[in-house]
Amino acid sequence: MSQQTWDAVDAYFSETLVGHDPVLEAARAAADAAGLPRIAVAPNQGKLLHLLALTQGARRILEVGTLGGYSAIWLARALPADGELITLEIDPTHAGVARGNLARAGLDKVAEVRLGRAADSLAALAEEGAEPFDLVFIDADKPSNPEYFAWALKLTKPGSLIIVDNVVRGGAVADADSTEPATVGTRRLHELIAAEPRVSGTSVQTVGSKGYDGFTLVRVQR
Ligand code: SAH
Ligand code: DHB
Ligand code: MG
Repeated sequence: MSQQTWDAVDAYFSETLVGHDPVLEAARAAADAAGLPRIAVAPNQGKLLHLLALTQGARRILEVGTLGGYSAIWLARALPADGELITLEIDPTHAGVARGNLARAGLDKVAEVRLGRAADSLAALAEEGAEPFDLVFIDADKPSNPEYFAWALKLTKPGSLIIVDNVVRGGAVADADSTEPATVGTRRLHELIAAEPRVSGTSVQTVGSKGYDGFTLVRVQR
């Protein structure tokens, strides 16, 4: 199987099950026009996040790594009118594009982009006594995954779901000798999950328009 096949299958799933969505297409176009890297989740992955948030009955969602707000739109669309999504972004250009995209999507009342290092914003959320989040999507700098997971645990409650993107990266995660910081971080993340009695987690490999990668899903149990 080749990337060409994975692209064709993703295109088929996105055409049949996601369909034409002017808001999401405009968000991608605005991100491209601003020169943002093309690393947002694929449409069918965005819809997976959306369905997980709905299944979760999420009223509060936290995202680490906003980019142009593509995944944030999918997640925020699962919220009730009085729900809240907070998404953390270090790059002011990315944050600006995301704010524009969320406003065009009519989600600026429920979605807030916080600019700064995610580690600082997460500490600030804990400091301000933020209500626990029902779903956390971790998708920023991969070397910091262990730190983001630790914060996610502090900022959630029993029943919450923590999702981590890009945990496979072409298979790199299986290399115990890797010194690549992203791989080291993601392996450490798995060790933390395995050693944490309050959670139950699993990881799955995926192929698609974004190549060979995967997600980790962690349920906070107690
Ligand atoms: N979730 C987005 C994609 C995020 S890409 C989507 O699917 O649409 C990763 C983002 O994390 C980038 O925008 C990058 O600027 C941001 N990022 C990287 N390091 C960060 C840090 N230390 N704190 C906050 N954001 C960071
Ligand atoms: C890449 C993909 C991602 O989903 C991400 O969050 C960061 C980088 C990439 O393909 O390089
Ligand atoms: Mg990602």
